[in-house]
Amino acid sequence: MTAVPTRSARTIGLAGTGVIGAGWAVRVLARGHDVIAWDPADGAESRLREAVERAWPSATRLGLFPGADPDRLGWADSAEEMAAASDWVQESAPEAESVKLPLLRRLAAAAAPDTVIASSSSGLLPSRLADGCRHSERIIIGHPFNPVYLLPLVEVVPGDATSPAVVDAAVAHYHDLVMHPLVVRNEIEGYLSDRLQEALWREVLHLVNDGVATTAELDDAITYGPGLRWAAMGTNLTFHLAGGEGGMGHMLRQFGPALKLPWTHLEAPELTPELVAAMESGCEAQAAGRSIAELEQLRDDCLLSVMRALRPSDIGAGRLVAEREARILEAGVTDEPWTPGAHVAAPLELYSTVVEPDWVDYNGHMTEAAFLTAFGWASDMLFRYLGIDEDYRAAGHSYYTAETHINYLREASLGEPLRVTTQVLGSDAKRLHIFHAMYRGHSDELLCTTEQMLLHVNTEAGRAVPALAGPAAAVAAITAAHAPMAAPPQAGRRMSIPAG
Ligand SMILES: NC(=O)c1ccc[n+]([C@@H]2O[C@H](COP(=O)([O-])OP(=O)(O)OC[C@H]3O[C@@H](n4cnc5c(N)ncnc54)[C@H](O)[C@@H]3O)[C@@H](O)[C@H]2O)c1
Repeated sequence: MTAVPTRSARTIGLAGTGVIGAGWAVRVLARGHDVIAWDPADGAESRLREAVERAWPSATRLGLFPGADPDRLGWADSAEEMAAASDWVQESAPEAESVKLPLLRRLAAAAAPDTVIASSSSGLLPSRLADGCRHSERIIIGHPFNPVYLLPLVEVVPGDATSPAVVDAAVAHYHDLVMHPLVVRNEIEGYLSDRLQEALWREVLHLVNDGVATTAELDDAITYGPGLRWAAMGTNLTFHLAGGEGGMGHMLRQFGPALKLPWTHLEAPELTPELVAAMESGCEAQAAGRSIAELEQLRDDCLLSVMRALRPSDIGAGRLVAEREARILEAGVTDEPWTPGAHVAAPLELYSTVVEPDWVDYNGHMTEAAFLTAFGWASDMLFRYLGIDEDYRAAGHSYYTAETHINYLREASLGEPLRVTTQVLGSDAKRLHIFHAMYRGHSDELLCTTEQMLLHVNTEAGRAVPALAGPAAAVAAITAAHAPMAAPPQAGRRMSIPAG
């Protein structure tokens, strides 16, 4: 069979469009691919379209690739029609072998022999799921995490029959979707992540069942402490630090004896009606009247904030936030970088966005700092236009901001669209004097302006040096194109209280 699909625009087939299937739909559509979905339940198509619409704002905030469009979601009338039309099939039917086995056989019978069929199963063995499937070498597990459109982890679990080329294809496919494919090298039930989660969850059920703590108290025991660490470091590296200078060795010597104590249970308690009621009522109390949709929105907002916060540390999901951004820019969501002789717009208009939830204060208004953040992204777009990309920065050159003057003119509220124009006021070999103006949506209503002096630096030496040839030529061309423009009234202003 052929290995990694190489076409950039592809059709991804989805079997089963519940929580996970819908999550896959959003991730794939946001990547700019087509989706064809099928689910046997009555009303499944309209539920899927509503779920995609609900999640689209979160996916948009993470970043849409060029061509991303919820309208590229198609529906098939049968599993066979869907499989035959797909370059890749992701099965997300209920977690039962009795459902998945016959479904996977149907999908395998209808799909082209080189179409990989991945199951979202949370713990079933791929060797069993591949049993009786045509071309069973293309059956594999791709186990995602909810919400699939935000969380990057996907466990890739090959079975006995799965070919190495299909493992490679799965890694490439999930990379393409800007995920973190973790290949589970030994086929075990529950794979890796759910084994860890399950151990914790079993303990939660025991503690509730024994009346030791409520669901809310047990959630506090995670969210105020260990949960904060887990986004950046897993259990092992975290405990390595818990051992102080002695690291994990000291940790094991100090806390090793506790491992002998009968603290935890491995077998879950019986799910008696009383335990089920305690879990349900505990969670309802925690929800405090908020609907699942409201809680999903809150979860998405928090996940996005955490993932973005990890970006500067280049760790965990933060690394993929940066990668996604670079790939979207590379894929041409912004203007092409300047090339010699290219027409230069006066002013440039390179950046537009919406007011993000973490940009607003308690009044729902964009904060002072957030205006500067948005202007920072606009400068980033300018740098890309100048030809300053990841490679240029990695080679040790960049522009740094030396001075900033901001004029705040109007408020902006959560979710409002913004656009920024950029005018180059002057430049020389090392300096770039720019002016950004921020407008509300497509209107001419000016919200905020900034005038900045940027210095081209050698980042290792930490000193200003002339820009290299490519960006230098771009800067010169833009400066010449913008020279006839009138100076903005906010530029060059000095703050003072007139005498008298
Ligand atoms: N919910 C999670 O957090 C999570 C996380 C990772 C993986 N998974 C896995 O994803 C899969 C789907 O889980 P979910 O949470 O989306 O379940 P769900 O109940 O939300 O959705 C299942 C969907 O499958 C459809 N379905 C029923 N029978 C079918 C059939 N024969 N063929 C095709 N579709 C059928 C249902 O109509 C429903 O829309 C499971 O294997 C589960 O283990 C779930």
